[in-house]
Amino acid sequence: MEISLHGKTVLVTGASRGIGRAITETVVKAGASKVYAACILKDELIKLSNEVPNVVPIHIDLSKWSETESKLKELEAVDCLVNNAGVLWVTEPGSITENDFDSIFAVNVKAVINVTQIISAKMIEAGKKGSIVNLSSITAKKSFPRFMIYCTSKATVDHITHNFALELAPKGIRVNAINPWIVNTQMGNAVPKNEAEAEMYRQHTPLGRFIETPEIAKVVLFLLSDWSSAICGVTLPIDCGLIL
Ligand SMILES: NC(=O)c1ccc[n+]([C@@H]2O[C@H](COP(=O)([O-])OP(=O)(O)OC[C@H]3O[C@@H](n4cnc5c(N)ncnc54)[C@H](O)[C@@H]3O)[C@@H](O)[C@H]2O)c1
Repeated sequence: MEISLHGKTVLVTGASRGIGRAITETVVKAGASKVYAACILKDELIKLSNEVPNVVPIHIDLSKWSETESKLKELEAVDCLVNNAGVLWVTEPGSITENDFDSIFAVNVKAVINVTQIISAKMIEAGKKGSIVNLSSITAKKSFPRFMIYCTSKATVDHITHNFALELAPKGIRVNAINPWIVNTQMGNAVPKNEAEAEMYRQHTPLGRFIETPEIAKVVLFLLSDWSSAICGVTLPIDCGLIL
């Protein structure tokens, strides 16, 4: 027996590259009939829809609340949502600006709330018992110097996950989050300052390595599918043991 999303429709935000692209490819392989790929990067989005079947591109800046509302309100009710889009940059201690806070929270936090309430309202209206997965981070549970605003935004994602899980469970909609440690993507590779720091991080990771995007996508597929039908409101580390 294999995990299947046969005939299901899925919306993946930030689908153009990295973890979002791996999730998109994985859910299509698992039988999803249509994947709405929402992303700010137009060229990468076109490339994705040329290379992966069943992908419908949505060019969107999720940091813009009203633009997001008007574009996503056009969509049909989907079965599954993955809130994957995110941004990360260093915020040096003592030099954090209002723009750092507003810009990181606009994508990592506000967009998750905005997209989830638009999409879940459509699921409820259509009577769909949907599944929603949020991309949090192990930095929600463990603090890292120089990344305070990113860490705080992801801790908020964990809380948003718990709240939405409680609010939507009575409608049969499950909401969960995953909390990865460094994944080999453009974002993940920018976290260590240099190879020496990357090696230090690997040595502090019990499994002694970072994570590949398919290892994330497979867990997301599990959480989207009926195989996880009793899992509701978890924030699941995928961290090679870092948190131990
Ligand atoms: N890579 C890691 O080490 C790691 C670890 C833990 C959690 N995460 C989380 O996983 C998610 C994906 O990370 P990734 O490594 O694939 O990053 P990435 O930078 O490779 O991809 C991020 C995606 O989000 C999209 N995006 C960013 N801002 C957007 C906006 N305003 N509107 C629409 N789309 C926007 C980008 O276009 C891109 O497609 C993020 O939420 C990230 O915080 C990543």
